[in-house]
Amino acid sequence: MPLDNGTRRAFLGQMAISGGVLAIGPHLFESAQAANVQAQAMPSAAIAGGDVRLTVNGKIELLPQLDPRVTLLDALRERLHLTGSKKGCDHGQCGACTVLINGRRMNACLTLAVMHEDDQITTVEGLADGDRLNPVQAAFLEQDGFQCGYCTPGQICSAVACIDEGHTNSDDEIREWMSGNLCRCGAYPNIVAAVKAAVSNTRA
Ligand code: FES
Ligand code: FES
Repeated sequence: MPLDNGTRRAFLGQMAISGGVLAIGPHLFESAQAANVQAQAMPSAAIAGGDVRLTVNGKIELLPQLDPRVTLLDALRERLHLTGSKKGCDHGQCGACTVLINGRRMNACLTLAVMHEDDQITTVEGLADGDRLNPVQAAFLEQDGFQCGYCTPGQICSAVACIDEGHTNSDDEIREWMSGNLCRCGAYPNIVAAVKAAVSNTRA
């Protein structure tokens, strides 16, 4: 049955804020490639690969025989099937892949999974508390902080850290500290509104 506009909007909203998969242009979903982070030299002993243990959203995950050249983004998406973190540019330029590493935001496409065995990794899937949305997720829904939703998981992870860092004292400051997260739909005014709403909801 076709979705009416209201239903479609609600569906897209739920998918976007929780990191569900949306059907966007095929170029954005190219299959995972080996890491293009050649700049990060690997010790020769690690080249053969081995089991890697990551702590993701509070859960220890074993990734058997992980190629040490695999980026954290590909490990999350392809091995752990956590597809909330999106692959936009795969070059550290768009922020679609933003995750939190020990509470700090990082582009998961620019770092190797094997480097994070001792870290706490949080993806958009780990922000809600059961059925209770994180205040930032709720604010994005409330303020319509997305259109297609592709950038939204990265925007939300980034906003969580931006708020923790205290960079929310003005619209300009929010824009500056969220500037690593691009939105091709141009939902920027609503994204800023969502960050502000999340701050006030948290304080209330
Ligand atoms: Fe990582 Fe664009 S996909 S910054
Ligand atoms: Fe479409 Fe940001 S909502 S790219």
